Amino acid sequence: MCGSGDQMTSNLEQLLSVFWLRPETAVWRYLDIEAMKLFEFEGRSLDFGCGDGIFSFIRAGGRFTAEFDAFQKTESLDRFYQNVDVYDAYDDSYDPLVASAPAYQINVGFDHKANLLRKATALNFYKETVEGDGNAPLPFEDNSFGSIFSNIVYWLDNPAEVISELRRVLVPGGKICLMLPNDTLPEYSFYNSLYVETKDERWKWLELLDRGRLSDNIKQSKSDEDWREIFARAGLSVSHHSQHLPKTIIQTWDIGFRPMFPALMKMVDGVDREKMPGVKAEWVNALKMFATPLAAMGAINDERSAFHCYILSK
Ligand SMILES: C[S@@+](CC[C@H](N)C(=O)[O-])C[C@H]1O[C@@H](n2cnc3c(N)ncnc32)[C@H](O)[C@@H]1O
Repeated sequence: MCGSGDQMTSNLEQLLSVFWLRPETAVWRYLDIEAMKLFEFEGRSLDFGCGDGIFSFIRAGGRFTAEFDAFQKTESLDRFYQNVDVYDAYDDSYDPLVASAPAYQINVGFDHKANLLRKATALNFYKETVEGDGNAPLPFEDNSFGSIFSNIVYWLDNPAEVISELRRVLVPGGKICLMLPNDTLPEYSFYNSLYVETKDERWKWLELLDRGRLSDNIKQSKSDEDWREIFARAGLSVSHHSQHLPKTIIQTWDIGFRPMFPALMKMVDGVDREKMPGVKAEWVNALKMFATPLAAMGAINDERSAFHCYILSK
């Protein structure tokens, strides 16, 4: 599915096209796909915290036309720096411009944001979407999924409880793939290391860069040992563990094009519709010159890399 060299290149190219105004997101997501290449959905499948579904759709081999991007429907860009989720927006004009469908479908996409689930539904990739709170008991029967993917457990209040819930809904012999932050992640955050840790007021402006991310999720960063203790207590065994997203990638991502994003969106809105395909093609080609070697650097990992990828069995 994502094994061959061509497929890897086209995953990166596809992500750069879809996230062209946030290339740091494209590189991160590319490295996520690489990290989870041993995981395959089997039996009834659950994408827990699927968001707009774009990540899992691309990972499954789905492709969008060049005109599509992840920013098609956004809202409240003027409140970007007050930590508003600008992607939490939808109307009937949303059209994901699918060029080719993925190799498979996922049974259930679960998320707490109705607008994101509407975007996910438009992909025709999830057989069903379910709106619910991942912090609450899950609205699924015991032993009802053969495989589960989630990259949101660390956004939730109590990861250990969520992991127990995921185990409850998994069939015996089923697999869960989780992306979880390592305890090195806070060290790599500019906001955390230069401002939170030092209390040096000169760096207070980095709050604008963090946009609440540290308080939201970096607090859940843990060592491999600590995550394994949580899995063992939940009754899950580790079938596979790898680490990805080294410091260079995290620090590139920490800034990326983020500071200029609302202004870039306005600028793009002002581009003549006829000139747009040429402008975007030139932009994406230029991005490739930087993103390709950076993504290759992201392949070099050790125990200091910022994320764990686990495949767990029940
Ligand atoms: C970083 S995004 C990941 C989305 C998607 N899996 C992806 O890879 O693009 C985190 C997702 O978690 C969802 N989320 C956050 N808190 C949640 C909660 N309490 N219950 C359900 N979903 C939640 C958000 O709405 C968002 O879609």
